[in-house]
Amino acid sequence: MSSRRKFLKQSLLSTTIFLPEGIKKSTELFQDRNVKNARKPRIISTWNHGLAANEKAWSVLRQTGSILNAVEEGVKVTEADPASRTVGIYGFPDREGIVTLDASIMKGNGECGSVCFVRQVKHRITLARKVMEETPHVMLAGEGARQFAISQGMQLEEEVLHPESEEAYLEWLKEKEYRPIINIENHDTIGMIGVDADGNLAGSCTTSGLAFKMHGRVGDSPIIGAGLYVDNEVGAATATGLGETIIKVCGSFLVVELMRQGRSPQEACEEVVGRLIEKNKDGIEDMQAGFIAVNKDGEYGGYAVHPGFNYAVQGESGNTLEDARSRFS
Ligand code: GLY
Repeated sequence: MSSRRKFLKQSLLSTTIFLPEGIKKSTELFQDRNVKNARKPRIISTWNHGLAANEKAWSVLRQTGSILNAVEEGVKVTEADPASRTVGIYGFPDREGIVTLDASIMKGNGECGSVCFVRQVKHRITLARKVMEETPHVMLAGEGARQFAISQGMQLEEEVLHPESEEAYLEWLKEKEYRPIINIENHDTIGMIGVDADGNLAGSCTTSGLAFKMHGRVGDSPIIGAGLYVDNEVGAATATGLGETIIKVCGSFLVVELMRQGRSPQEACEEVVGRLIEKNKDGIEDMQAGFIAVNKDGEYGGYAVHPGFNYAVQGESGNTLEDARSRFS
């Protein structure tokens, strides 16, 4: 080992061992925090479509004991919902009239998988899980992801727009105004995070992305650390809203890291929304983004840029929709 590398290794070791008095390790800070609504198991997911998704996830958790199975099966409800215009194959297309889909899944031990810009696969969350479990990779994109789905025996759907999506697309074609907006009328993405009775966490996130986006555009949802992040030592977070704004601050990773430093899930979501607003000042009045978070004790929180964001919270006492507080009123 070179003397420089030896020096660096020794410095790192000594940093770990000799923390100055009064400075706590992140794990100690996490243990010290003021716990409010802790209770586990707990599953939370974005928007009102989260209610049906939570219900499924809860029953899968009960039946299989697996929080990973729960978050996969839960969001599959929304992926398959013909009424959803912002998550599944029935969603709004891109500006070429093609529906392209993104998803990610993550376990508390750091294992993760994702797919992006994929066509014709109804349950991309299952495809993301297969990337995690059946390949040495984290992310597959586009045609490669579609071919992988075929190789795994997954059925492809016909590429036909849902009549409501087609009508909206034909309307959009009249002006072809390219304005990447996500707001309350046009909300998106289901993100689901959960913790089991033993404190094991998992999360999933799936979307058809921005309506009438550029062909090839990918948002935050399939990007580990942006749309989703899970760490069994601390907790989990997921995001919704305009992906570009979330990617710029590594939003979900940052929420989890702030919880590691002692913030509650609510405080962490609020701080990251503040950071996101700082980094995205232009056009902030027209852009929605929000986060939900849960820690390993089942304490949770949620916060958004603008009013209108809500999330579904499932625990032993039931499944309820909560309105998130927001930075602007
Ligand atoms: N949050 C989903 C997207 O921006 O695509």
